[in-house]
Amino acid sequence: AGPCDIYSSGGTPCVAAHSTTRALFSAYTGPLYQVKRGSDGATTAISPLSSGVANAAAQDAFCAGTTCLITIIYDQSGRGNHLTQAPPGGFSGPESNGYDNLASAIGAPVTLNGQKAYGVFVSPGTGYRNNAASGTAKGDAAEGMYAVLDGTHYNGACCFDYGNAETNSRDTGNGHMEAIYFGDSTVWGTGSGKGPWIMADLENGLFSGSSPGNNAGDPSISYRFVTAAIKGQPNQWAIRGGNAASGSLSTFYSGARPQVSGYNPMSKEGAIILGIGGDNSNGAQGTFYEGVMTSGYPSDATENSVQANIVAARYAVAPLTSGPALTVGSSISLRATTACCTTRYIAHSGSTVNTQVVSSSSATALKQQASWTVRAGLANNACFSFESRDTSGSYIRHSNFGLVLNANDGSKLFAEDATFCTQAGINGQGSSIRSWSYPTRYFRHYNNTLYIASNGGVHVFDATAAFNDDVSFVVSGGFA
Ligand code: AHR
Ligand code: AHR
Repeated sequence: AGPCDIYSSGGTPCVAAHSTTRALFSAYTGPLYQVKRGSDGATTAISPLSSGVANAAAQDAFCAGTTCLITIIYDQSGRGNHLTQAPPGGFSGPESNGYDNLASAIGAPVTLNGQKAYGVFVSPGTGYRNNAASGTAKGDAAEGMYAVLDGTHYNGACCFDYGNAETNSRDTGNGHMEAIYFGDSTVWGTGSGKGPWIMADLENGLFSGSSPGNNAGDPSISYRFVTAAIKGQPNQWAIRGGNAASGSLSTFYSGARPQVSGYNPMSKEGAIILGIGGDNSNGAQGTFYEGVMTSGYPSDATENSVQANIVAARYAVAPLTSGPALTVGSSISLRATTACCTTRYIAHSGSTVNTQVVSSSSATALKQQASWTVRAGLANNACFSFESRDTSGSYIRHSNFGLVLNANDGSKLFAEDATFCTQAGINGQGSSIRSWSYPTRYFRHYNNTLYIASNGGVHVFDATAAFNDDVSFVVSGGFA
C-alpha cells in the first residue's frame, strides 16, 4: 500500500498527492513529474518504476549534457491538482514575468530502498502553486496533510510551506491558509530551542501551538529526513512530526484554534502551495520529497500507519557530486574551456573572482591568485568549498549571484553561499561547479568575471549562448 491507500482506508482520502520520488498509491503508474531541459526546451514525464520509485535514470538520460528544471509535479489523486510554476501575487517572483523560479531537477538526490530519486530543492525565489485545485478543504472544513522534507535545508525567511492557501496568491486575511511550514522563522511563532520547527501557516502567522508566540512543546528538528504533519477541523488542529527514516510520529500540539481573531472558524480557500507563502512570499528555502492533502481529519492511527509506510520507503542520502573527483586538502586550479579562453584560470583580484591568463612561468603572486585549496563544503560536507591559497580563511562565495572572495564570517548564510557541488562538465570537458544553495546555478565566466549563472534567466550572465562551455572547467593540480 501507499500513503494514499492508507488514508483511504481511514476514511480521509487524498485529494492531492505530490512526489518526485515515488508513487503514493500502490496502483499509481502515471507520471510523477515533468522536467524541461535547457538544450532544446523539450519536456518529458518521469514515471515510477515497478518498485514505485521514480525512474531517475530516465531523467539522467534526458538531461545528459544540459540542465533540467522541474516544470510540473503531478497530482496522483486523479483530481488534476498538479503543481506548476507559481505566478506573482502579493509578491512577485524573480522571473521576468514575476513568476517564481523553477527547481533544478538534480538539487536533491536521494535513494529510496537503494534506488536513486530526486526531490524538489527549493532555493529562495522558487515556488509551485495550483490556484484552481478541486476537492481541497474550504472554509472551516476538515483536512490533513503531511510532507517529507530535508530537515537540514531551511532558513528564516517567509515561508517554506506545503498545503492550503489563497486562490489569488494574495494575503486575504487570517485563517485563509492552512499549510505545513518548516524553517526557523522567528517573526511569528517559535518552538523550543533555535529551530527549525514544524509550524502551521494559517496566514499572517506561523503557529507552533495555541499561543501565537512561543510554544515549548514544538521541538527543534534535527533529522535529515523529516515527516511533518498538520491537520485541522472546526476549533481543533494538530502538529505532528518525526524522523522520516525511522520510528514513529509525535504530537507536538493538539487542541483548540489560536485565540486570535480570524482563525476560528477558518476561511480556507483551497489553493495548493509549495515552497512559498500564501501571498507568494518567496524568500524561503527547503527540500520537498513527497506530500499529500486529505479530505477529512485523519486519525492519529492513520497518520501513524502513513509514517510506517514512509519509513519503509527507506529514504537515504545519495552523492551530490559526480565527475572528476576532488581531494579535500589539495590545491587545484580551474581552467576555462570556452574557445575564447582556454589559457584563462579562475583567479581573484582582491575580492573579485575572475579569469586570468596563467601559466607555469607566471609570477608567484598570480599563481597563488589562481590556486584554491579544496575544503569540505562549509554547509554540506558532501560538496566542497574553495579557500584562497594566498588569503587563508577567505573562500569563494556567491553574493547577489556574483562570485566573490570573502573572509568566512561563520554565518549559516556564508557557509551556504560558499558550498558548491561538482559534476561532470556539462560540455563534456572537466567539471561543472553547481551552487549547493541554488542548484540551477553554476560557476560561469562571463566577460572574464565569475558568477553563479542559470541556463537562461533574468541576468545578462544567465545567457543561454555559450552556457555549456562557460560552465565547464578543467581541474588540475594547483599552480601554487
Ligand atoms: O502567515 C505567514 C505569511 O504571512 C503567509 O505565508 C503570507 O501570505 C503572509 O505574508
Ligand atoms: O547570491 C545570492 C544571494 O545573494 C546570496 O545567497 C546572499 O548572500 C546574497 O543576498
